[in-house]
Amino acid sequence: MSPVLTATAKYEPKTFPHLRGLKGITPVQIEEHLKLYGGYVNNTNILREKIARIVDAGEAGSVEFSELVRRLGFEYNGMRCHELYFDNLTGTPAEASRGLKAAIEESFGSWASWEIEFRKIAAMRGVGWVILYKDPETGYLSNHWIGLHEEGHPCGFIPVLVMDVWEHAWTAYLKPTERAKYIDDFFSNINWEAVGGRLGL
Ligand SMILES: [Fe+2]
Repeated sequence: MSPVLTATAKYEPKTFPHLRGLKGITPVQIEEHLKLYGGYVNNTNILREKIARIVDAGEAGSVEFSELVRRLGFEYNGMRCHELYFDNLTGTPAEASRGLKAAIEESFGSWASWEIEFRKIAAMRGVGWVILYKDPETGYLSNHWIGLHEEGHPCGFIPVLVMDVWEHAWTAYLKPTERAKYIDDFFSNINWEAVGGRLGL
């Protein structure tokens, strides 16, 4: 019996032509970042194939199987978080819609409170992601720190605004210590239309 996953479920790296002309974040930075993203797509495919082969060989439960499965969350989330991040950037940002502003104000008290919290999470030491999520059960929005790519995602929540704060997100055009400048650049390029779209607003 051939592995089930290999024939039907290969991921292809997406393209992001809208990332031209960002403010601050340079084309070289984006080019390097997209190469890293491609690695996550590739590794996700490799892991899926290897795990399927191990299961097919009757060796599920082996040490190799366990370690590959543990790795899968890292690579899968590395792929998907990057796609969400690139999709919520644009060189021609518009203002957030009234509906989006109202949703953020309702959950955080004010837009300023949300932005301060989000920026302060982004400034935390360590590599990971800052994600504004929606709890589909309550409708509330909340900011979260994601360690590496896979630690801290609230189960079932919908990602609304996704920010990469691994140092590779800015070190092709800034120094590692210039995280604050990258945070400003990220905020200058947020595609609020895409963000609102994730909430249906
Ligand atoms: Fe990244």
